[in-house]
Amino acid sequence: HPNYSTGQSGNMATVEPRIKARPLLVLYGSQTGSAQDTAERIGRQAQRRRMKVRVEALDDYGVANLISESLVVFVCSTTGQGDPPDNMKNFWRFLFRKSLPADSLCRLDYAVLGLGDSSYPKFNFVAKKLHKRLLQLGASALLPVGLADDQHDLGPDAVIDSWLAVFWEKALTLYPLPAGLSPLREDELLPPHYIFNFLEDVPVKEAEQHRITEEPAPPSSVHPFLAKVVSNQRVTQPSHFQDVRQIEFDITGSNIKFGAGDVVMIRPCNASEDVEKFCQLLRLDSDRWFTLKSSSESSVPSRLPQPCSIRHLVESFLDIAAVPRRSFFELLATFATNELEREKLAEFSSARGQEELHAYCNRPRRTALEVLADFPHTTAELKVDYLLELFPEIQPRSFSIASSLLAQPNSIQILVAVVRYKTKLQKPRKGLCSSWLASLDPSQGDMFVPLWVKKGGLKFPNDLETPVIMVGPGTGVAPFRAALQERIALGRTANMLFFGCRSEAKDFYCRSEWEEMERAGHLKLFTAFSRDQEDKVYVQHRVKEQATLLWDLISNMGAFFYIAGNAKQMPTGVCDALKGVFQKEGGVSASQAQEMLDALEKSGHFQSETWS
Ligand code: 2AM
Repeated sequence: HPNYSTGQSGNMATVEPRIKARPLLVLYGSQTGSAQDTAERIGRQAQRRRMKVRVEALDDYGVANLISESLVVFVCSTTGQGDPPDNMKNFWRFLFRKSLPADSLCRLDYAVLGLGDSSYPKFNFVAKKLHKRLLQLGASALLPVGLADDQHDLGPDAVIDSWLAVFWEKALTLYPLPAGLSPLREDELLPPHYIFNFLEDVPVKEAEQHRITEEPAPPSSVHPFLAKVVSNQRVTQPSHFQDVRQIEFDITGSNIKFGAGDVVMIRPCNASEDVEKFCQLLRLDSDRWFTLKSSSESSVPSRLPQPCSIRHLVESFLDIAAVPRRSFFELLATFATNELEREKLAEFSSARGQEELHAYCNRPRRTALEVLADFPHTTAELKVDYLLELFPEIQPRSFSIASSLLAQPNSIQILVAVVRYKTKLQKPRKGLCSSWLASLDPSQGDMFVPLWVKKGGLKFPNDLETPVIMVGPGTGVAPFRAALQERIALGRTANMLFFGCRSEAKDFYCRSEWEEMERAGHLKLFTAFSRDQEDKVYVQHRVKEQATLLWDLISNMGAFFYIAGNAKQMPTGVCDALKGVFQKEGGVSASQAQEMLDALEKSGHFQSETWS
């Protein structure tokens, strides 16, 4: 690499301009958007310190260029069982290649900030491992790795703020502010990253805008497939407290392939009344069209069509229904001219105002749109150029696929529990994606949903002789419906399903399908209706009752055991029941039962996928 060798030879003439520019690269790996938000916040702080800053997702960055960078901040969260987020998976693979020479990054100064949750065993595993690997490759750490914790009383910001204070001190020692210049004030508006150029007319190909032509490659986050909704059926009784939908999408022509256990990613849209309300508050004409230009180092999001209408931007890109983060208030505050609103916003942006912000926003799950309505003067002052910095992008949601291509070609089916809950606010809260999906009524015209598929966590045995035991209360049954369809399509197989719901009459969905599989000799079904009698009966009670049979399947037949679902305590309850089975039938001690379960998990014979 030419720059690399010039730098190495210590040629001051070529090094000096680099120092004058004071470049900083902020790279993030983010699953739910927190790490991205923090990275962008660091980016703005760098701008205030007059540095030349670029903020990028790790997988959008050409990792081979790392050898010619001088100062990089990595902001990475840890997901699942110590895994890196999806948008840094390629980077992760590259970085751990054995062929990388030990001094590849010897010119690099870096800092790693981890976002994690100490209630999980592998707390901030990704950040720690990244830090170690960078050292191994010859890079120099400016400061110890920062370990932000969701479980901290004051939230992750408690660690982030003090870590950042040390980071800036070190960074400014390395790259001092140019003589005579001071940092920009916190309330000074920075130039926008993007410029909106409004068009005079509506482009001719309006109807084409949402239609993405068939891609040769399988659909992905950037190029989702627009799948038509075939059906959207409520599968719980109208009198039941919960609305659960079975939704089917047509994926004909999509080149989408998946197997049992895989998940479908769906990017929802905002409700049209929210889009309208938003445009009203900001005095935006939703029918106006624009093209977007980058005025900074950030590139225009590839997912936004060009030209684009304001309606499309607000409906399918800006996350206005999420609870806003602190950075939203920081940016909003810079627009405030009304004294009262400005004071309040400044407080919410400050370190000391975090508890109050939590009480105002997080506890009642107040949405960004509702916040805007609470600060009408400031909202009316907002400049459209800042929209993409104010609002994060709507994140896709994942659903376990509940159907098999072998049984139902060209189809993806999911089971969705429509999320509704109450908080202290008068208005009931809704889950954005599930409410949007539930609202799509194919009898009202063609409805399309942007989707793509991803490998899931559950793997089913290839060998059809191997019995599978599946425990899936509620919508947890979804991946097992896919597995049953797939295994039955492939031949005669041995399957056991434990299903739990509240009441046989109200939410025992897919009942006739299970009964048919039972009749055909493919399935043994055990049900637990928790509220059809005085005492609660759960799936784990049924597991316990079937101790002899389960022990035989697991210890003699090499059966696979699966748990899926969203009840918080359910997985622990089922694991305890299973260990009880080992103790009772296998005559082992409690600790030996735990060891057996660990061994089964290690060999893939015990798998679970749970969500909240
Ligand atoms: P409940 O709501 O009556 O408590 C699907 O949601 C089913 O899972 C319901 O019947 C629900 O029962 C049940 N469930 C709730 N908590 C559970 C737990 N800890 N273990 C197993 N099942 C549980």
